[in-house]
Amino acid sequence: MLAAFAARIDADDPLRGLEVGERPEPRVPDGWTTVTVRAATLNHHDVWTLRGVGISADRLPIILGCDVAGTDEDGNDVVVHAVIADPDAGDGDETLDPRRSLLSERYDGTFAERVAVPRRNLLPKSAVLSFEEAACLPTAYLTAYEMLFGKAGVQPGATVLVQGAGGGVATALILIGRAAGYRIWATSRSEAKRERAVKLGADHAFPPGARLPERVDAVMETVGEATWAHSLRSLRPGGRIVIAGATSGQAPPAELNRVFFTQLSVVGSTMGTRGQLLRLLRFCEQTGVRPLIDRVLPLARARDGFAAMIAGEQTGKIVFTPR
Ligand SMILES: NC(=O)c1ccc[n+]([C@@H]2O[C@H](COP(=O)([O-])OP(=O)(O)OC[C@H]3O[C@@H](n4cnc5c(N)ncnc54)[C@H](OP(=O)(O)O)[C@@H]3O)[C@@H](O)[C@H]2O)c1
Repeated sequence: MLAAFAARIDADDPLRGLEVGERPEPRVPDGWTTVTVRAATLNHHDVWTLRGVGISADRLPIILGCDVAGTDEDGNDVVVHAVIADPDAGDGDETLDPRRSLLSERYDGTFAERVAVPRRNLLPKSAVLSFEEAACLPTAYLTAYEMLFGKAGVQPGATVLVQGAGGGVATALILIGRAAGYRIWATSRSEAKRERAVKLGADHAFPPGARLPERVDAVMETVGEATWAHSLRSLRPGGRIVIAGATSGQAPPAELNRVFFTQLSVVGSTMGTRGQLLRLLRFCEQTGVRPLIDRVLPLARARDGFAAMIAGEQTGKIVFTPR
C-alpha cells in the first residue's frame, strides 16, 4: 500500500529521511483492528520524528502520522485516539502510562491506506465533521482542549495568551478558547497570520515579544525558546504557563527569580484521554467549532505538506488523503 514513512533520520535536513512509496499491509496484533484511512493530518511530531527526536534509528522504517479518520472493518466512520497506552498503568489516565506511545513512535502511523490500531482507540466520527476535519482532532485539538480546560486553571472570561498563532495547536486554542468564552490574545511572526488569528476569533494579535495592554491570566506555550521570556513577562502575578511544545528550542533561560517572585506556575501538558476526545467531538457539535484546515493534499504529495510545515508556511492543519 502507499505510505509516507521515515526511512532515515537527519536532524538538519528532515525531508531527506522522508519517503513516499509502497509499504507492507499492517500487521494486526490481538485486540487491534484495521482502519481504512480517509484522511490523516500532519503534526510537528512527524517533523520531529524525521529529525530523530523521540525515536531511534532501530525503529525505522516507520510509517509517519498520529491522526486519522476513516472507516473500521464493519464500515463505521471512526476517528482514532492516537495515544497507545494502558489507562490502568496511568492510574486511570492513559497519558500518564510511563510506557505510553503515539501512533508512529512504536507502531506504524496513519500516513497510509490502512493502519492497525487498538480496538479501544476507535471512536465514532461525528456526522457533523468531514473526515478531513475529524482527522484534525486527536493530536492538535485534543492537546489544546486539555491545555485550556484541564491544565490552565482559569475560567471563561479570563485572558489567555496563545503564542505562535499559525500552528495546528495554536489555531485550535484560538478556536476552542473563543467558543468557550475566553478573551484570547495571540502572537505570530507573520502579519498575515496575525490578521488570520483575529479573523478566527482572537481579540488581538501582536508581534512576538510585544508589550501587551495588560498582563494575562494564562499563557499557552508551544513555541518554546523564541517566546519563553515573553510568556514569563506577560503573566500576572500568580499566573500560569501551560507548555505542550518547544518548536523553536527547549532550553531558554528559566528566569527562576521571576518565577518565584511573581509566584508563577509552569505546567506541562501532553495529549488527552480517550474520554476527553469524546467530549471534544461533542464540543465541536455543540459550539459549531470546526478545525481550521490550511490545505488538503493527496498522500502521494506528502512531501509538499512536510516542506510547508518545515518552512512555517501553514495556518491550521495540513491534511493528507490516500485517494
Ligand atoms: N505535548 C503534546 O501533546 C503536543 C501535541 C501537539 C503538538 N505538540 C508540540 O507543539 C508544537 C507545535 O505543534 P504543531 O503541530 O501545532 O506545529 P506547527 O503547526 O508546525 O506550528 C508551529 C508553531 O511554531 C511557531 N514557531 C515556530 N518557530 C518559531 C520561531 N522561531 N519563532 C516563533 N514561533 C515559531 C509557529 O508560530 P507562527 O508561525 O504563527 O509564528 C507555530 O505556532 C510542536 O513542537 C509539537 O511537537 C505537543
